[in-house]
Amino acid sequence: MSIKIEKLSYSYTLPSGEKVEALKDITCSIETGDFVGIMGPTGCGKTTFIQLLAGLRSPTGGRIYLDGEDINVRGYDRNRLRRTVGVVFQNPEYQLFAATVEKDVAFGLKYNGLSRSEVTGRVRWALETMGFDFEKVRAQSPLALSGGEKRRVAIAGVIATKPKILIFDEPIAGLDPYGRRNFLQFIRGMNQTGTTVIMVSHNLEALAEYTRHLLVLEQGRLIDSGPTREVFARLQQRNNGAFGQTEAQRIVALLAEGNLALSSAIITYDDLLSALKQELNGGGAG
Ligand SMILES: Nc1ncnc2c1ncn2[C@@H]1O[C@H](COP(=O)(O)OP(=O)(O)O)[C@@H](O)[C@H]1O
Ligand SMILES: [Mg+2]
Repeated sequence: MSIKIEKLSYSYTLPSGEKVEALKDITCSIETGDFVGIMGPTGCGKTTFIQLLAGLRSPTGGRIYLDGEDINVRGYDRNRLRRTVGVVFQNPEYQLFAATVEKDVAFGLKYNGLSRSEVTGRVRWALETMGFDFEKVRAQSPLALSGGEKRRVAIAGVIATKPKILIFDEPIAGLDPYGRRNFLQFIRGMNQTGTTVIMVSHNLEALAEYTRHLLVLEQGRLIDSGPTREVFARLQQRNNGAFGQTEAQRIVALLAEGNLALSSAIITYDDLLSALKQELNGGGAG
């Protein structure tokens, strides 16, 4: 499922009639199977952007194409869109509502035309993928679970429909480092099985390590996009490190002040470690 976005704009209308331009003239594309990060300061339009991608809002300007089809034309199959694009919103655990975990996860499968046993199979798969013992958890009330468990149930509900495109809005915000790593590995696993992944995050380390392409938003505009490494290198130049610099890039900048020049392509700790190893072995980095 490739996504093509052309001159996309979105304005909110406040009760006073005043308009808030949240997205301005965004043109970009996302290839099938890619892992794309979206970054930018709070209020730059990230959540609005993914709501548009998921068809939850209609653009006030421009178009979104999924495999060449405009998703906002009259007659476009909204149910198919809902099955194709899965969105895990921020704090998804707040959206649990059913009496049992099994019913909650099965909810999104309602209009899928699956048989009862197929639905159960999907729910089992989704809960097991999220690390649960299906038989143990299926009849429990979601409200009785811990915060982290609730979040995993909510995500099971999204992946149960096996969306071809999976979007996460700040999925690791508020997780401890261990939970963060686990969750990022899970997202990578979904991507490796062919799901296109779009991840909004403020965590530059996570974006640097996991994504292949980046979209950078600032005040509703797409100010940069491209392969992750290239975008980070450009951001560092553009802002002189004010915004969009990873920890590893910061260390490289400090080392440069101390007269140890390392490659400007370093963006992750892993990159930094291999460059330092090479340096210690007398190699000298490029
Ligand atoms: N429901 C809304 N009504 C009016 N303005 C909104 C609404 N939601 C978001 N906005 C405004 O749109 C802009 C983009 O918001 P948002 O997409 O939530 O950004 P982000 O997710 O990057 O923090 C901000 O100026 C925000 O105040
Ligand atoms: Mg947001």
